[in-house]
Amino acid sequence: MQTARLTVHPDFQIGAVDPRIYGSFIEHLGRAVYSGIYEPDHPTADGDGFRQDVLDLVRELRVPIVRYPGGNFVSGYNWEDGVGPKDQRPRRLELAWRTIETNAMGTNEFADWAKKADTEAMMAVNLGTRDGDAARNLVEYCNHPGGSYWSDLRARHGYKEPHGFKTWCLGNEMDGPWQIGRKTAEEYGRVACEAAKVMKWVDPAIELVACGSSGSGLPTFPAWEATVLEHTYDHVEYVSMHTYYGNRNNDLGNYLARSLDMDHFIRTVVATCDFVKAKKRSRKTLHISFDEWNVWYHSEQHDAEMTPWQVAPPQLEDIYNFEDALLVGLMLITLLRHADRVKMACLAQLVNVIAPIMTENGGPAWRQTIFYPYLHASVYGRGTALNLNIQSPTYDNKEFGDVPLLDAVATADGENETVTIFAVNRAQDGPLALDGDLRSLPGYRVTEHIVLENADMKATNTAANPHAVVPHSGGDAAIQDERLTAHLPKLSWNVIRLAKGR
Ligand code: AHR
Repeated sequence: MQTARLTVHPDFQIGAVDPRIYGSFIEHLGRAVYSGIYEPDHPTADGDGFRQDVLDLVRELRVPIVRYPGGNFVSGYNWEDGVGPKDQRPRRLELAWRTIETNAMGTNEFADWAKKADTEAMMAVNLGTRDGDAARNLVEYCNHPGGSYWSDLRARHGYKEPHGFKTWCLGNEMDGPWQIGRKTAEEYGRVACEAAKVMKWVDPAIELVACGSSGSGLPTFPAWEATVLEHTYDHVEYVSMHTYYGNRNNDLGNYLARSLDMDHFIRTVVATCDFVKAKKRSRKTLHISFDEWNVWYHSEQHDAEMTPWQVAPPQLEDIYNFEDALLVGLMLITLLRHADRVKMACLAQLVNVIAPIMTENGGPAWRQTIFYPYLHASVYGRGTALNLNIQSPTYDNKEFGDVPLLDAVATADGENETVTIFAVNRAQDGPLALDGDLRSLPGYRVTEHIVLENADMKATNTAANPHAVVPHSGGDAAIQDERLTAHLPKLSWNVIRLAKGR
């Protein structure tokens, strides 16, 4: 059996984990809003039409922030359509996803839902068909206390108290040819800068996210970031990153190495931010909002054949399998490894649309395979991220070269004296022995070793069989003489929880 070594030392600190890296995303797309979070006729719906079964699962995930309302959708959205009396709201052709948008849900309803979900809103403004004027009006509508046109309108709509939304995205994927109102980096940089100024003049407490590239594969990456930040650096706190992966060639070794691509992508964006910082002689450090990340490919064929102009049709409904959960675990480890610079991240998305939670209209809600690594990281991965100084055997991959069999990171919660190790064994042929040096953590013991494993890489959870892929607590991690040992089953996600004393 091969062995991987690591050292857990409380001084190997990467940075504080901002809980917002466990954020998610709800877009007006497919069944995310309608029959995802909002379904007035559903047996579990509350007085506002929100599905309680879905709210329970969202709260279980402890999602700290949810991006809304898009996504590609936002680039054609008139936010005024979604406020005020519901019977007067227009039905619109929604061009990003070629559906009908009824506007039955809008900004105020989302604020209500976010409160019930114990989460915060990350709002996005339309810089595709619109500009800073509509954006500043929306900030005034949402955040100004009263005594002005838009804030008084909010009060007339039944919301006397301001929503106080703190985080705002300046458009979405403005570099993408598919985007309504796509712009060059120069065009977007100028519009974003001017929108940022007036939005902050309305509410100086807000924080802003400038659009980075839609992915590292775009030909304009990373020059896009450099140009956009030339214009916006002094006005924003974050630059966005987006990435999606898929196992299109059914090549598991290559698929599980995709997190190395994510790691490289983050390093490049950090370097670009710091280049602009140096050029501007700025003392401010920009952070990353990785506000779209996930696996997305299973539903491509279905969506290509969809009939347009339906209301809330199934779209982007990826049914995730076990191997997808492993990659999602690896992506979470990668985000934690960059906790010093990645301060927000959104698993895209939350319900039905490339999501950890699936529902049937009028029927049940259940946990997809990817729900579990996301849940474990969100619940146990708070505190300070620790680098583990790993020495792991590797396998060779044509695209990525030497790929470590073990990928792992830890978080430490100093107050509660707990440490959690998140680890994936990428080995396809057998378990990996873990040998951990814990001399810097005397008195710690293993409280739980959670394992997500499955003999069938393609196993999925469905409404009929929602428990095909579930974690168990039967891992064998143990500590003796300040040495941690464990066997990580082949192709497995592991959460090794340590606590002092008790
Ligand atoms: O999350 C699905 C879509 O992916 C979003 O609308 C868009 O921003 C990205 O291309």
